[in-house]
Amino acid sequence: MSARHEGVRAGAATLINPPLALYVHFPWCVRKCPYCDFNSYTLNGELAQEPYLQRLLRDIEAQAPEVTGREVASVFLGGGTPSLFSPDAIGRVLQGARRHLKLAADVEVTLEANPGTIERGRFTEYRAAGVTRVSLGAQTFDAAILKALGRIHSPDETRLAATELHAAGLTNFNLDLMYALPGQDLAGAGRDIAAALALEPAHVSHYQLTLEPGTVFAARPPPLPDEDAAAVMLSACGERLESAGFAQYEVSAYARPGRQCRHNLNYWNFGDYLGVGAGAHGKLTFADRGHIVRTVQAREPRRYLAAPDAALTRHVLAAEQLPFEFMLNALRLAGGFTQRSFTERTGLEWGAIGAPIAALRERGLMEVTATACRASTLGLRFLNDLLLEFMPETSKMPGSSALSMTAREPGQGASAPLYTGLHGPNAE
Ligand SMILES: C[S@@+](CC[C@H](N)C(=O)[O-])C[C@H]1O[C@@H](n2cnc3c(N)ncnc32)[C@H](O)[C@@H]1O
Ligand code: SF4
Repeated sequence: MSARHEGVRAGAATLINPPLALYVHFPWCVRKCPYCDFNSYTLNGELAQEPYLQRLLRDIEAQAPEVTGREVASVFLGGGTPSLFSPDAIGRVLQGARRHLKLAADVEVTLEANPGTIERGRFTEYRAAGVTRVSLGAQTFDAAILKALGRIHSPDETRLAATELHAAGLTNFNLDLMYALPGQDLAGAGRDIAAALALEPAHVSHYQLTLEPGTVFAARPPPLPDEDAAAVMLSACGERLESAGFAQYEVSAYARPGRQCRHNLNYWNFGDYLGVGAGAHGKLTFADRGHIVRTVQAREPRRYLAAPDAALTRHVLAAEQLPFEFMLNALRLAGGFTQRSFTERTGLEWGAIGAPIAALRERGLMEVTATACRASTLGLRFLNDLLLEFMPETSKMPGSSALSMTAREPGQGASAPLYTGLHGPNAE
C-alpha cells in the first residue's frame, strides 16, 4: 500500500447503508449504432419478450433478499432499447418489483426510449404502467448526421415522440444529445440545443461522441471535429442551456430546477443499486458486515437467459479501492461531495484521502469549502488526472486498465482522454 493510502483501513466505523435504486437492463435494439459499446444487440427476428420478462422477474425475486426492508427510491429501465418492450411487459416488470421490493411512494421510474420505436398513444400506456420519467435518445436534429450515426429515426420522429410525451403528461423527460459529431460545426451544435429546447424537456444529457474500442466507429472513424472545436462546442452549448434555465449538475447533465435525475444522482453520490437483466451491474452496501459488494449478471442475453436464477457474480470491494470508486462517481458532480458522505459511504476515515486532496488543491484541480469538496473548473477538464491520484498503487501497474474499465460502465471500454465520460454504471 502506498504511503498516500496509509489511512485506508477496512474498518466499518462509519459505513451506513445509502439510498437504494433498481436498474433493469433490456439488451436489444432495432439496429446496433456504429458508435455504441453498451451491452446491446441488433434484434434478429422476433423479440423474446416473454422469456426475457420471466427471467427478469426471477432475477428480481432472487436478488430481493439482499435488500430486505430497504426502500427503493428510483427504478431505471435502460438499454439497449427498453421501448421495444410493450407497455404491458414494462408494467409486469414494475409489478414484480413492487411484489418483491419496497418501492418508495414517490418512486421515480425512468424508461429509455428510442424515438424510432414510439407509436401513437404508447407513452400514455407506459405512464399507466407506472413510468414517471422518459429518457429519449434524440442525439441530433440534423437528418444527415442522424444517418451517419446509423440512427433509425428522423428529426421529425423525435419531435413527434416529444409531442406524445407532453400529450401523455410525461413532461419530466430527458433528451440525450451528442456533440462533436461527424461533419458537425459550432453552429450545428448550437442548432441542436435550440431544437432540443423547443421540445420543452425537463432535462438534457449532452455527451461528446467518443470512439469506443470495439465499435464500428473505432475501426473506421468518421471525420470528427478536433478536441479544441469540441471544447468550444461544449462551453457554447452549456451557456445556451444555462441561459434557458437548465443548471449543469454533472459533467454531462443539465436540468430545470427540481428535475435532476434522482436515479443517476444516486450513482454519482455512491449510492446503492440492484442490477437486474443481462450484463447489469449492481452495488450494495452491507453496513452490518462492514463491506460493499459489486455484482454483475451474465452479459450475453442467451447466457443470461440460460443461467440459474441465483447465478450472480459478486465481488467485495477492497478498502484500498474505495477512494477511487467513490471519486469516479462523486467528482462528476458540479456540487461535489461532503466529508460526511465520503466517510458514511466508504466506511473510511477522511484522513484516508487527505494527502491526495491536498495535492490536488495545490495544483488547482480541486476546491475545498467549509461544506463541500469538488473538482475545480480546471479539474473537471482533467478528471482522469484527478482520478489517478485516488487509484490504488496496484492498479497503476503497466497493463492495468482500471481507469478505462471504470470510466464508463465497468468492462465497457475506455473513456475519452477528456473525461466528459458518459455514464455511471447502467446510467442514461
Ligand atoms: C442506452 S442509450 C439511450 C437509449 C436508446 N438506446 C437510444 O439510443 O435511443 C444511452 C445514450 O448514450 C449515448 N451514447 C451512446 N454511445 C455513445 C458514444 N460512443 N459517445 C457518446 N455518447 C454515446 C447516446 O446519447 C445514447 O442516447
Ligand atoms: S445508442 Fe441506443 S439504440 Fe443505438 S445501439 Fe446503443 S443502445 Fe442501441
